[in-house]
Amino acid sequence: MSSNREIYPVFDRMLSRADKEQLLGQRSVMVWFTGLSGSGKSTIAIALERELHKRGLLCRILDGDNIRTGINNNLGFSEEDRVENIRRIAEVSRLFIDTGIITLAAFISPNNDIREMAASIIGKEDFLEVHVSTPLEECERRDVKGLYAKARRGEIREFTGISAPFEVPAHPDLSLDTSRLSLEESVGQLLRLILPRVEIRSAETKTNK
Ligand code: ADX
Repeated sequence: MSSNREIYPVFDRMLSRADKEQLLGQRSVMVWFTGLSGSGKSTIAIALERELHKRGLLCRILDGDNIRTGINNNLGFSEEDRVENIRRIAEVSRLFIDTGIITLAAFISPNNDIREMAASIIGKEDFLEVHVSTPLEECERRDVKGLYAKARRGEIREFTGISAPFEVPAHPDLSLDTSRLSLEESVGQLLRLILPRVEIRSAETKTNK
C-alpha cells in the first residue's frame, strides 16, 4: 500500500528541535521556579528574561498571570487541580522547549510528586529546578496580594504554607532566598547556571548556517 510517507518522504516530517535551535542560535532549557506565593518567582523570571533577551536569547515565561487566567481558568487549588495545573503547564512547556525557546515557569508546584511529574513530561535532562526559598514569614510580611491575611482569617482554604503543605525540594539546581539576595544577585546566579547551557558558540553557528 502506498502512503504519503513514500510519496513525500521528506516534506511530511516536522522540522526537529535541533533545526529550530540552529535557526535561533540558542539551545533551549526549562527553568522551573518553585516556591511559596510571594516568594519572588515571577519577579525573578521577568528580570531573568530581560537579561537573556538582551543577549539575543528568546524566552517564554509561563506564570499565573498568563496560565491560570487562560488555559487553566477552570482549575482551583485542590490537590487534584494543582496536579492538572502543573501537568498542562509541563505539556505546554515541552512544546516551547521543542521549538528551541528558553522556557521559564513560575508556579508554586508545592510537592516533590508534582515537580517530578513536570520533570518527566519535559525531560529531566532539560529541566533545571530553582527553589525560590524566601521564608514563609517574609512572604507573609510582604503579602503583596493580601492573600496570606485572608488565609489566616480562614477566608481562603488550602492556602500553601498556611493550610496546605509546601514540600521543600531536596536537590534543586539552585536555591534563591530573596530575603538575603538582591534581584541582581539572584539573576546573576541564574545567568551563571543557564548561559553555558543555552549559548551556541559562534563558530558552531557559522559552520551550520
Ligand atoms: S500551584 O500550587 O498550582 O502550583 P500556582 O502557582 O498555579 O499554584 O498559583 C498560585 C497563586 O494563586 C498564588 O501566588 C496566589 O496568588 C493564588 N492563590 C489563590 N488561592 C491559593 C491557594 N489556596 N493556595 C495557593 N495559592 C493560591
